[in-house]
Amino acid sequence: MKKRLMLAGFAVALATGYTLPAFSQVKPETLVKQRQAAMTLQGKYFGPIAGMAQGKIPYNAEVVARNAAYLDVLNKMPWDGFAESTKDLKDVKTAALPAIWNEPAKFKDAQEKFQGAVSRLVAATKTGDETNIKAAILEVGKGGCGNCHQNFRQKD
Ligand code: HEC
Repeated sequence: MKKRLMLAGFAVALATGYTLPAFSQVKPETLVKQRQAAMTLQGKYFGPIAGMAQGKIPYNAEVVARNAAYLDVLNKMPWDGFAESTKDLKDVKTAALPAIWNEPAKFKDAQEKFQGAVSRLVAATKTGDETNIKAAILEVGKGGCGNCHQNFRQKD
């Protein structure tokens, strides 16, 4: 059974020209690029709604609901990019701090806090309560992005 599954996976890899991680290691430089890309997209979709919560941009409930839903997916993507293989790279521009690998439980906790805050934001967008929604956005920023960057990202 296992062997058949493996063969099936291999056939898919061959047919699509796409090799699964089990068949080839992704290059550390690529992992860094990909995790930064996921972060950049989080910035893209969080920035405007943070501006709305702060009263800097006119509030738009539809954009908030859409962006919250996007973040709810994006917030699962960056983490496998912080693989051990990316720990001591030279000649790669990264702001990841060693604490990510020295304190893995704390890093994981920061991810979960962030994901929890996004889940609460998604739930809030379904109530239509603007005050609540704005508070939930600010909490994603402070308890989510901000909390982790504070401890795990190099300040520029
Ligand atoms: C659990 C930790 C964590 C959370 C939560 C988190 N980040 Fe990050 N973020 C990082 C780390 C670490 C880096 C540095 C990655 C690198 O340079 O390799 C980073 C980098 C970035 C970057 C720079 C990307 C680049 O191209 O170099 C942006 C933008 C960013 N984060 C936005 C956000 C936003 C917006 C949120 C919340 C919606 C968020 N992040 C949540 C850890 C986190």
